[in-house]
Amino acid sequence: MAGSRFAKIAWLLVAAWVVLYAPMAFEYMSRFLFHGPALWDHVYSGVVGDRQALGLGSIHDVQSPRYQQNLAVMVMHTTVSATAILLAVFQLSARSRRRIVIHRWLGRVQVVCVIVGMLAAMVFLVSVRPSGTFDGAAFNIQLFGLALGTLLGTLLGWVAIRRQQMATHRILMTYAFALLCTAPFLRLGYLVFGLVWPHSTQEVSNLAGAGIEAFLAPTAAVLAARYVAPPRSAVHPVRHLAPAMVNASWVAGIGGAVLLGWLYAAHFSGADRVTVCWAVTALVALTTSARAAGTASSEPARHDWITYRTSVLLGIPLTVVLWGVFGVAFGAVPGFYGALLTGPAISISLGLLLIAASRWRRASQPTDEAMSGVGTALSHG
Ligand code: HEM
Repeated sequence: MAGSRFAKIAWLLVAAWVVLYAPMAFEYMSRFLFHGPALWDHVYSGVVGDRQALGLGSIHDVQSPRYQQNLAVMVMHTTVSATAILLAVFQLSARSRRRIVIHRWLGRVQVVCVIVGMLAAMVFLVSVRPSGTFDGAAFNIQLFGLALGTLLGTLLGWVAIRRQQMATHRILMTYAFALLCTAPFLRLGYLVFGLVWPHSTQEVSNLAGAGIEAFLAPTAAVLAARYVAPPRSAVHPVRHLAPAMVNASWVAGIGGAVLLGWLYAAHFSGADRVTVCWAVTALVALTTSARAAGTASSEPARHDWITYRTSVLLGIPLTVVLWGVFGVAFGAVPGFYGALLTGPAISISLGLLLIAASRWRRASQPTDEAMSGVGTALSHG
């Protein structure tokens, strides 16, 4: 009961910030076309001051020439992605599912918007290359992964509903929404970090926020999965992780953390803010999921939490491996931050896929929605 009240409040807060931010993103590029109102610039500089929001080292300062050179692509990206995220807020609301024909049509528009918005982002990333992306290779790698993840989540979510897999459809569409939300919440992070670290730069706020989001975005999707497709529909115990793998993940996670710390000490002098924020988020994710697994009210719920905790643990050695790979391509320091920004996100996303697969019903089994009549209408769209 308390859990569902918390979920409702969290959803309202997320939806409110998305609805507030989306118009600012929609018109962000208008300043290059007709001296538009620059709403976000005003909000950002109003909260943290002109130096950090618009001065040397800010996105406004560093990226303006690149946005001008790639204006058509970036106008496409910002307007269409802002539309996609607004549509997603409506689509995920209970109200939209009561109007199934509208839900179906807006769903199609949303899929097209996501495809166009993410392809535009990828075109920009390829055209400016890692060195022309804000914060360099590390952010370029994360944004590319985000674009792919958002595209895949949306397309697989669409395939799921075509196959009448309502629970999996909901989980995947919520995942795509969580990834889209990294944009408004990264900007919220700029405001918070700008206030907490007044002498810092947007480059640091951006990397710190992106490092935290590498955990939080897929984690939000895991949490949402527990409400949008509760584990009573978990019908494939065989897809749960084997106990040996769960135990091995502790060894891999702790071993990975020690190795990561040792390699970090060899390459950096003293702890930096981005790495500290990342490590604290990892610890919070681990301790809360271990507690949730221990106090889960049902066996399927316990399995969900164990899957999540295992994915967080395995994200640490994966980060070490990715550092090795990105280090060869981009150098040790950008490679390290690139690994921080992607390792946990990939691993937790795979954990979520496992949770989604556990809700996949065999064709012969009646779905919850077929019983209620809602899913049948949707899936025949
Ligand atoms: C989740 C997938 C997304 C990806 C992969 C992505 C990718 C990108 C890329 C590559 C840039 C240019 C970065 C640079 O300057 O180096 C960018 C900027 C931007 N994106 Fe996205 N984006 C995503 C979601 C969104 C969404 C949902 C919105 C709108 C709500 C949005 C709004 C913007 C805006 C306004 C900018 C301009 C720069 C700024 O505001 O800081 N993006 N995005």
